[in-house]
Amino acid sequence: MISVLFVCLGNICRSPLAEAIFNYQIRQKQFQSYFRVASCGTANYHVGDPPDSRTIRNALKNGIAIQHIGRQFNIADFEEFDLIVPMDESNKDNLLRLHGADKFRDKIKLMRTFDTKNRGADVPDPYYGSEKDFQEVFEILDRSMKGFIENLEPDLKANLSRSGKK
Ligand code: 4NP
Repeated sequence: MISVLFVCLGNICRSPLAEAIFNYQIRQKQFQSYFRVASCGTANYHVGDPPDSRTIRNALKNGIAIQHIGRQFNIADFEEFDLIVPMDESNKDNLLRLHGADKFRDKIKLMRTFDTKNRGADVPDPYYGSEKDFQEVFEILDRSMKGFIENLEPDLKANLSRSGKK
């Protein structure tokens, strides 16, 4: 089992969408039982809130349903998750500023490390943007997630052969 936590600022636009796209893509590959996935924000503005209605609408337009309740990153998440995937440098910095974060540095991988275009760039915050910006975020995440999952496949196979499943 590999656990993955997607992180943005508010946990109502980018990271719940990343979680939903990850779930969709691993289901297509029949990998769903090998992963635990979650998302959160570094800020507390939207704790308890559903995703932004524009994110929900855009995801549905692209064939993906999102169900999520906003929550804030908790220091225990550093221990709980194998991989922590912030959407941008600013949220990566927010994580690394937390007390004791340094020893978990290797678990943190920026989302667009796995993009084939503009590798390593930020997933732009669409909150003050237009419908076009939400669609751009969708396309960035859809593309980056393919790279991310491909990158995990060797680890997954090693895990499975250790546990004697395949
Ligand atoms: P997210 O977008 O980090 O992708 O969820 C934002 C959502 C809310 C706010 C900022 C960004 N906000 O300032 O409330």
